[in-house]
Amino acid sequence: MDRKIILITGAGGSLGSAILERFYKQNSEFDIIAFSKVQNVQTCFKNIKVDLEEPLSTTFWTKLFDILNGKKVAGLIWAAGVFFGEEFSSPYILENFQKQWYINCYNLLEMTQKLCSFFDCEVGGQIIAISSMLAKRSTNGSFSYSTTKGMQDILVQKLAYELAKYNVRVNSINPGLFRSNMSEQTWSQQEKIERLQSNIPLRHFVHVNELVNLIHFIFHGNCKSLTGQNIFIEGGNLLCFSKL
Ligand SMILES: NC(=O)c1ccc[n+]([C@@H]2O[C@H](COP(=O)([O-])OP(=O)(O)OC[C@H]3O[C@@H](n4cnc5c(N)ncnc54)[C@H](OP(=O)(O)O)[C@@H]3O)[C@@H](O)[C@H]2O)c1
Repeated sequence: MDRKIILITGAGGSLGSAILERFYKQNSEFDIIAFSKVQNVQTCFKNIKVDLEEPLSTTFWTKLFDILNGKKVAGLIWAAGVFFGEEFSSPYILENFQKQWYINCYNLLEMTQKLCSFFDCEVGGQIIAISSMLAKRSTNGSFSYSTTKGMQDILVQKLAYELAKYNVRVNSINPGLFRSNMSEQTWSQQEKIERLQSNIPLRHFVHVNELVNLIHFIFHGNCKSLTGQNIFIEGGNLLCFSKL
């Protein structure tokens, strides 16, 4: 029998590569297709170079369908993301909003819509989008990021309804700040980090491994009714009245 496929976007990122590693080590029954903005991020997987801030090209789809070659898909993990940090008054706000919309919403929707018939209805499948705590919060420079992550959360809920007929569960994970390439600049500001930490009731920043554990649990745990959820993992940060 053909091995099933898991597709992972943002594969070269801090979280994406940690997910890739866990799935590679613990799920030898799956083949992985890694999507990355750069070529050949991981040599042991099938790689597709793609810029998710733009509409997906015909060349991209031809390459993906060639690799899939009729094989069944077990899951899509959408870990790609980018934070531009522009002020609302910036002349780039509309351009950046459009890029964020493509990466967080439109391309996730198109990929889901084109792939839904590739899932095995009997066994079922999973789509997990990495959203953000900022879907529910605003901070300076977060307008396009926060707004499109919020839209992603709604998209996840609506896709869960549509894909139930394919036996595919769709959820998002919404982390608080965690250490990664994306947040490295924040981590270099000790005072800011201490202030942010004091806003977290558990006083603990989420760690990449916790996110990978959660993804793994959703994927493999016996939780067949879990769908359409935005799962916040932020040490209680959202419970706290605080200034980001
Ligand atoms: N770090 C945080 O504090 C934090 C908090 C909440 C949510 N998140 C979310 O967590 C997810 C993972 O981010 P991370 O923290 O691990 O940051 P990261 O290391 O910067 O990873 C993000 C990855 O997204 C991919 N990406 C960015 N722009 C792309 C583009 N135009 N086309 C294709 N791929 C693109 C890149 O993957 P390649 O390198 O493979 O090209 C990049 O490495 C993101 O969705 C982010 O929004 C992060």
